[in-house]
Amino acid sequence: MSIHIPEDNRKVTTHRLVEMKQRGEKITMLTAYDYTMAGVIDRAGVDVILVGDSASNVMAGNVTTLPITLDQMIYHGKSVIRAVKRAMVVVDMPFGSYQGNSKEAVASAIRIMKETHADCIKLEGGKEVIESVQRILSAGIPIMGHLGLMPQSINKYGTYTVRAQEDEEAQKLLEDVHLLEQAGCFAIVLEKIPAKLTGLVAAELQIPIIGIGAGPADGQVLVLHDMLGMTQDFSPRFLRRYADLNSAITVAVQNYIEDVKNNSFPNENEQY
Ligand code: KIV
Repeated sequence: MSIHIPEDNRKVTTHRLVEMKQRGEKITMLTAYDYTMAGVIDRAGVDVILVGDSASNVMAGNVTTLPITLDQMIYHGKSVIRAVKRAMVVVDMPFGSYQGNSKEAVASAIRIMKETHADCIKLEGGKEVIESVQRILSAGIPIMGHLGLMPQSINKYGTYTVRAQEDEEAQKLLEDVHLLEQAGCFAIVLEKIPAKLTGLVAAELQIPIIGIGAGPADGQVLVLHDMLGMTQDFSPRFLRRYADLNSAITVAVQNYIEDVKNNSFPNENEQY
């Protein structure tokens, strides 16, 4: 197995992501919500770190991403930013912080940028939120779009199944990706749509397309705790697990319990 170590230690910027697409270099993106994990994955060389609103599920144990608040996203964003030197850091705008109106949207985005020092924000939606997108971009804040399965709309869909399988929804997605690109978004995440549609979008657009459960694209994103095998009850087809940290942590904790119970920890060298 060959390990990819980035040759270039410069900070990853929106401009560099577009250059990566142009030269066919794949973009890697993972989520992180805290200082320690963000430092590990930044030093490992990931290009983009997403402070996803999946923190609602992964960190707080909520069933959906809807309950997480702007203050909580800012807390996670600040923790991640303190650790990261190279990767671009994107903070998700949480449900309710931008859908109401564009004035509220830009105020929320400005809070994220001012308080976390992140590089940019991500938000879900196309035509429905285009006024907010334009206003945030006018404030000089770069936006990563998110279309296909949009977890903040789960109550509208009623299911986490593959989106845009029917012509009408695929057509709407095609219109939305063009709208977002024309407005000035620097990249778009496409979640859980047919690979063929992703390929079409990636070929039509100049900006990078990052896929999750969407087949090959200009880059890929996964939820860190899923790909490390820490989460147990989530096994969609697209999820490749690169470690089994649930087992590794369980064994470590059981060994610790055993050592304390049988008086083998701490030993003479582990005390003052
Ligand atoms: O919040 C998140 O983790 C995301 C990814 C699934 C793209 O939006």
